Amino acid sequence: MNRGRRGVRGALARLRGRDIEIKSRGELEAMRAAGALVATTLAAVQQLARPGVSTAELDALAEQTIREGGGVPSFLGYHGYPASICASVNEQIVHGIPSASQVLTEGDLISVDCGAIVDGWHGDAAVTIPIGAVSEADLALSAACEAAMHAGIAAVRAGGRLSDISHAVQVATEQAALRDRADYGIVAEYGGHGIGTSMHMDPFLPNFGDPGQGPRLRPGMALAVEPMLTAGEPETRELADGWTVVTADGSRAVHWEHSVAVTEDGPWLLTAPAD
Ligand code: MF3
Ligand code: CO
Repeated sequence: MNRGRRGVRGALARLRGRDIEIKSRGELEAMRAAGALVATTLAAVQQLARPGVSTAELDALAEQTIREGGGVPSFLGYHGYPASICASVNEQIVHGIPSASQVLTEGDLISVDCGAIVDGWHGDAAVTIPIGAVSEADLALSAACEAAMHAGIAAVRAGGRLSDISHAVQVATEQAALRDRADYGIVAEYGGHGIGTSMHMDPFLPNFGDPGQGPRLRPGMALAVEPMLTAGEPETRELADGWTVVTADGSRAVHWEHSVAVTEDGPWLLTAPAD
């Protein structure tokens, strides 16, 4: 962990698990509204994403959808970030900056990360989208990451510990790798986080580790669960733009994320599509 850095990595590295925001039922319902808007936005982006469309067009649609839904894009201006989504294509893992010159082509694998604020409450979610026909290996990688995210969410239990989530993500990733005869890398420098009145709040949530460690999960906590997997080695590199994180070995990477609340009745998926 590279503590003391600026930007998202610095923000995440400062989260020690000592100051976790507890939300009332009403506050979680407000977070659900923000989360539903994020889900709506990601669905719209997914509809538009196809060969010939630029990541700047995806960003414009996302910003419009968020604002029309009564929200504010939380990424825009965050530590100076210039867009409303992160659009990370192929070997880009996270924090890819949308660009008119990045035009999607058949076979690309794009991760879109989106955050919105509604009435002061944050939602944060990401999906990986295959562009046209992609390789079996890419589909398996994305499915592994999505399954790992859901395994992590299933481990969100009042009375449990934070690292139970980390462990569930790791185990699901390892099981998928065995099944796929692959050797997936789990990105270590980035991970999930508390969320609520800010996007990145205590605690930092690693995507691997032993169970039974860290703060106890209590009703009213909210977390973003977000594994990032690579098809090769887990090492990352940041591009000269100061944002885009890529795999050091050039292998493809994927990212899935949901914001979820801890309740007495189990995990509440705040960024699921509106019911
Ligand atoms: N959802 C991203 C994360 O949790 C946040 C992106 S911040 C931005 O890491 F500024 F890069 F947009
Ligand atoms: Co996040």
